[in-house]
Amino acid sequence: MDSFDYKDGVLYCEDVSVDEIAQRFGTPLYVYSRDTLIDHFARFAKAFEAIDPLVCFSVKALSNMRLLAELGRAGAGIDTVSGGELHRAITAGVDVDRIVFAGVGKSEQELRTAVAAGIRSINVESEAELELLSAIAAEEGRRPRVAIRVNPDVAPGDRTPAKTTTGTRGNKFGVDIEDAADLFERATRDENLEMDGVHIHLGSPIFLPEVYGLGIDRVLALVADLAARGVKVNTINIGGGYAAEYESDSAPSWDDYAAVICPKLQDFVDAGGKVVMEPGRTIAANSASLLTTVLYVKKAGDNNVAVVDAGMSHFVRTAIYGSSHFIWPVKPADGLAPESRDMPEEGPGLTRYDVAGPICESSDYLGKARMLPGLKRGDVLCVFSTGAYGMTMASNYNSQPRPAEVLVDGDDAFLIRRRETYEDLIALEMPDDGRL
Ligand SMILES: Cc1ncc(COP(=O)(O)O)c(C=O)c1O
Repeated sequence: MDSFDYKDGVLYCEDVSVDEIAQRFGTPLYVYSRDTLIDHFARFAKAFEAIDPLVCFSVKALSNMRLLAELGRAGAGIDTVSGGELHRAITAGVDVDRIVFAGVGKSEQELRTAVAAGIRSINVESEAELELLSAIAAEEGRRPRVAIRVNPDVAPGDRTPAKTTTGTRGNKFGVDIEDAADLFERATRDENLEMDGVHIHLGSPIFLPEVYGLGIDRVLALVADLAARGVKVNTINIGGGYAAEYESDSAPSWDDYAAVICPKLQDFVDAGGKVVMEPGRTIAANSASLLTTVLYVKKAGDNNVAVVDAGMSHFVRTAIYGSSHFIWPVKPADGLAPESRDMPEEGPGLTRYDVAGPICESSDYLGKARMLPGLKRGDVLCVFSTGAYGMTMASNYNSQPRPAEVLVDGDDAFLIRRRETYEDLIALEMPDDGRL
């Protein structure tokens, strides 16, 4: 699952004691395992090797430059959705021919930057965007490679939150699939554009591999329709959304997804087509844990509440998606290491706690009704599998400085993003003349 393991009752990330990391760098703190991140990327790519995809890691899940550089060196491409993400990917040294750029609301400046950089594919989400891109390409004297993102109207399954469903009818993303063939064909006559591919992204996380099967069937029908008109599609991008293991054995394996996806795309690939995939969470989620310190233990009615120093400003998924992350002390009382990443129902030495953050919102809990070893002020808790949509969704709400990030590589642990300071919080609000 990952490189966060208890040895003799104490949590280690790779070969480094997590408690020592917390003492050295403070909390709240994101701790990444290089081994897990790179291993997950490599094993994901290997599962799909029959169709030799370009695996573009989705930066929105995890965007630290050092980690993007590591992934780039391991052979990853990068999926971006903003000028800022594009800037990160390029600055991290990722080959532009492995960078794709989607996004429903790209600004003119963002499109101009992508055209000038000569990235692998600009994934256009409307006819109006295509027209603007063509005009920019003409002005810049460049011919960008373009995919059309289509909305295939495929429901992702009951376990995918509505808030992260992207490929059903009426959704803001992409071009309705029934309009896509005409648009693509027309665009092939535009000499400013190199029409290359079709892109889908169905939602996140998708627990049913057959959902990808349905989406791919619809894209292949579109590709066949275009072929009948004499128009060739070179690339099919099937997006991201592959689930992560937040608890033990809670997600399909990469082989389960590959068993559905690879056979569907094999003929396309054998005929010279290229497949692009955009996994984010399935690679990044288990690569990091969030460390947080218990500030107070108190009673609220019948509930035991452990108030900790990390909340929805540092990690928002529990508050906005109701997502569930395994939590355990890094040095549990009586050496009570967890048996698995499933929440225990009962157990000797365990007490039920709500783990609450410091933010002034009633939704600010990292976990509710968790059976945990006895907690006291100063204990450090580990919130597992927080590498995806953790730090990238952190905010300064309640004027909380965002956490630091540490990378562990074997027996070495070092800062890859320093903790924000109060000066950082106000730096952009200080006028040049110093007057408030
Ligand atoms: C276009 C696109 N690709 C890829 C992803 C990555 O999804 P995940 O992290 O679930 O793999 C997203 C997530 O929103 C997305 O919008």
